[in-house]
Amino acid sequence: MKKLNLAVLCSGGGTNLQALIDAVENVELSAEIKIVISNNSNAFALERARKHNISALHLSHKQFATPEEFDQRLLEVLKQNQIDMIVLAGYMKMLSSTIIRAYKNRILNIHPALLPHFGGPGMYGMHVHEAVIKSGVKITGVTVHIVDEVYDHGAIVMQKPVEVKDDDTPETLAERVLKVEHDTYKKAIQLFAEERVEIRDSRAYIQP
Ligand code: GRF
Repeated sequence: MKKLNLAVLCSGGGTNLQALIDAVENVELSAEIKIVISNNSNAFALERARKHNISALHLSHKQFATPEEFDQRLLEVLKQNQIDMIVLAGYMKMLSSTIIRAYKNRILNIHPALLPHFGGPGMYGMHVHEAVIKSGVKITGVTVHIVDEVYDHGAIVMQKPVEVKDDDTPETLAERVLKVEHDTYKKAIQLFAEERVEIRDSRAYIQP
């Protein structure tokens, strides 16, 4: 089977990155993580990459005079590494339309709720779980989706439900959701490795 060349973009701890590294090592995911890129030089995700001999690059808008120069450098790095797919794993910056168009339907994100609910600007990290609990819904979950030019909007590739318990705090809920994220992301990416995803009319169709 084809091995997907992945670039994983992270801003923080990188537990989703770790789950992907483990899935590749355990041959559950037919991919190679060619490079991990973070806009944050202190991101533990970079450390995780180095520990597994994966190239780790700190690349931030702050290093460039204009957003266009950042984009050019990022595109160069992606090209040099022959990247098939960009995987966002807790990446806190919006990618520009230049990047999104260059990798159309080849950028994935994971969101810790069931989109299209509890998504959009401001809905990240604990804010998501706080809003979920406040709303009173009994089910939340995980969404893996294609990144398009609208925040948290692109075609949904995979969703998994997570129960919201009456005594959940945002923290206990986040912990349960995160575990499901770790199991879901690798499976969603594997569908692309198996060439089973077709994006048509803003929807993802999965071949059985
Ligand atoms: C995850 O909850 C993910 O859904 C969101 O950011 C968080 C990243 O966590 N986009 P980690 O850095 O992978 O531990």
